[in-house]
Amino acid sequence: MARRIDWKNLGFAYKDTGAYVKAEYKNGAWGEVEVCSDPYLNLHVAATCLHYGQACFEGLKVFCGKEGSIAAFRPDENAQRLIDTAHRVVMKPPPKELFLEAVDKVVELNREFVPPYGTGASLYLRPLLIGSSPHVGVHPSEEYIFLVLAMPVGPYYKDGFYPVKAYVQEEFDRAAPHGVGNVKVAGNYAAGMKGDMSGKEKGFPICLYLDSATHSYIDEFGTSNFLAITDDGSRYVTPDSSSVLPSITNKSLQRIARDFGLSVERRPVPVTELERFSEVGACGTAAVITPIYSITHGDKNYTFGREDRAGEMLTRLYKEIQGIQYGEIEDRHGWMREIGACR
Ligand code: PLP
Ligand code: COI
Repeated sequence: MARRIDWKNLGFAYKDTGAYVKAEYKNGAWGEVEVCSDPYLNLHVAATCLHYGQACFEGLKVFCGKEGSIAAFRPDENAQRLIDTAHRVVMKPPPKELFLEAVDKVVELNREFVPPYGTGASLYLRPLLIGSSPHVGVHPSEEYIFLVLAMPVGPYYKDGFYPVKAYVQEEFDRAAPHGVGNVKVAGNYAAGMKGDMSGKEKGFPICLYLDSATHSYIDEFGTSNFLAITDDGSRYVTPDSSSVLPSITNKSLQRIARDFGLSVERRPVPVTELERFSEVGACGTAAVITPIYSITHGDKNYTFGREDRAGEMLTRLYKEIQGIQYGEIEDRHGWMREIGACR
């Protein structure tokens, strides 16, 4: 099946590879990691994931490296974030060891779907945790299903590492202070769809959200963190906010920025500070870095660098993180978890 894939023209889309893994939590304990192929679950009609949103997920990538080995990028971080998310919405998370066992297993099963080195594609893993017990009163589930899907993907935005125009979405907020914006619950994405789609209808591929209490500080883009490089090129700035998802890509880029000699500022970022940045990017697993050419905020329009290519520092950061992911640059921070050899 995988032999017919056009690796260089993959989009970011669901694909059924015929194998995923699943573990179930019942009677107070997690069961074994099982191999599954049926894409339909046999789920109770009153399951808490369906009625009360006890559902959360993760996203991470697996790469075939230059030297021929398969490796996942920082899966332990995703395991920990799933644990943090689950606790926030009173769910039972899989322990880290179980999460990593499921990652290894799903990659082994889908080895033929790991895109070959040099194609620019990767294997995307989608861990999902749902409450499966029936309840009609609002109550946490006693039983849980944890599964990990795998599928080959190309770039999230069809043009890849190329600047896009962003829109400050103020009509619809996506996360409240002390709410659930800092964890990866499924409902956050439903909450963000209207805002993101109304931005797209206006011609902006990506929306920027401000803090929902005052609309004066930058939170993050719809599905990615905000990062900026100051005018003098010496500082990496990213918002500190209780309603932003702690992005593993952002954390890694901050580390690389420090390696490059930049200082990293994680602090509240007033939206008016946009006029002082020379480069702005959106970062996340799916797109890695999306350079932002302009941000439209009401009748104001801020621009950053050139419309036809990314700025110098974002390009350096992008090349460095991708170089580490594809095994071209030494994994000096121990981020890659090796999972056997490429086909
Ligand atoms: N912010 C939001 C709301 C996201 O959905 C994501 C994607 O997972 C990110 C940021 C980026 O996080 P990460 O770099 O861990 O993928
Ligand atoms: C990301 O990986 O950056 C995401 O936001 C994933 C998205 C498809 C939910």
